[in-house]
Amino acid sequence: MAKPVRKAVLPVAGLGTRVLPVGKTTPKNLLNVVDRPILSYIVEEARAAGIEHMVFIVSRGQGAIEDYFDSIPEIENALSAKGKVEILEDLRRDLPQPGQMSFIRQMAPLGLGHAVWCARHVIGDEPFAVMLPDMLMQASPPALVQAVAAYEKTGGNIVVVEPAPEGETHKYGIVALDGRDGRLNRMTGMVEKPPLGTEPSNLFISGRYILQPEIFNILETQERGAGGEIQLTDGMFNLMKTQDFHALEYEGTTYDCGDKLGLLRANVAFALARPDLADAARQAIKALL
Ligand code: G1P
Repeated sequence: MAKPVRKAVLPVAGLGTRVLPVGKTTPKNLLNVVDRPILSYIVEEARAAGIEHMVFIVSRGQGAIEDYFDSIPEIENALSAKGKVEILEDLRRDLPQPGQMSFIRQMAPLGLGHAVWCARHVIGDEPFAVMLPDMLMQASPPALVQAVAAYEKTGGNIVVVEPAPEGETHKYGIVALDGRDGRLNRMTGMVEKPPLGTEPSNLFISGRYILQPEIFNILETQERGAGGEIQLTDGMFNLMKTQDFHALEYEGTTYDCGDKLGLLRANVAFALARPDLADAARQAIKALL
C-alpha cells in the first residue's frame, strides 16, 4: 500500500506583480475571495485531503501570512466578552493546532522547483502534496481529495491537470500521456512553457501534485530552465526516468487568482456557490449587468 500523504508544501513566495499595486503591502494569497483570504480555501482543501502539516514557502515581507494563522487574543477576548460566538468560531476556523504549520523563507526567487526544495528538511522521507495557492479550485470533492484518491490507486507521483484554453499552452507546464482513457492516465513526459505548436498535449499542470521525496535530490542539482528559473516540471521530468507519474484530469473549475480577472471570476463564482449569499449575489450581479 502506498504511504499516506500527510504533509503539503504551499509555495506562496513571489512578488505578486500581477496584482500590483495591492501586492505592495498584501501578499497576493491573502487577497479576498468573498469574505476569506485565498489561503483559507487552500488550507480547507488540504485538511479535507487529510493533510496534517502545511509547509509555507514564504519570502521577505510576507509576515502577514504567519500572522493570519496565529491567534489574536485582543480580538478574540473582545468577541468572547461580547458573546459574539459565531464570529469568534469563524475567526478561529483556519487556525492550525500548535505545530501543524511551518514557514520557510525562500531567500532568493529562483523558481518553483527551488521553492519546493526548500521544504526538504520538514518533509523528510515521505510522499507529500504541493499546492499552488494562486490556483483556487472549486470542486466536489476538493481537488486534492481527488488527487489523493488517484494516488491511492496508482502510488508513485500524481500531477493534476486540465485542458488549457485555446492558444494558452505556452503559459503552463504541459504533460504528455501514454494514451488517454478516462481521467487518470500514465504520463510519458512533461515540459514547462513549451513554445506554441510544440506542446505535447493540451493538458496543463493545474497546481496540485503528489510527489515522492526522491524529487528533493533531483531538485538539489536541477539546472535552470524556462524563464531562467529552477522549474519543478524539469525536476519531475527527471524523476520520471525512475518513477511512475500519472496525470489526473480533475473534476472542477480552476480560478487563477494571481490574475486580476481570475480573482474577479473566483469572487463571483464562490459567492454564487455560497448558500447564504447566492440569491443576493445573483441579484447584485444582474443589476450591474
Ligand atoms: C507554475 C508551474 C506550471 C503550472 C503553473 C500553474 O508556473 O511551473 O507548470 O502549469 O504554475 O499555474 P507559473 O505560473 O509559476 O509560471
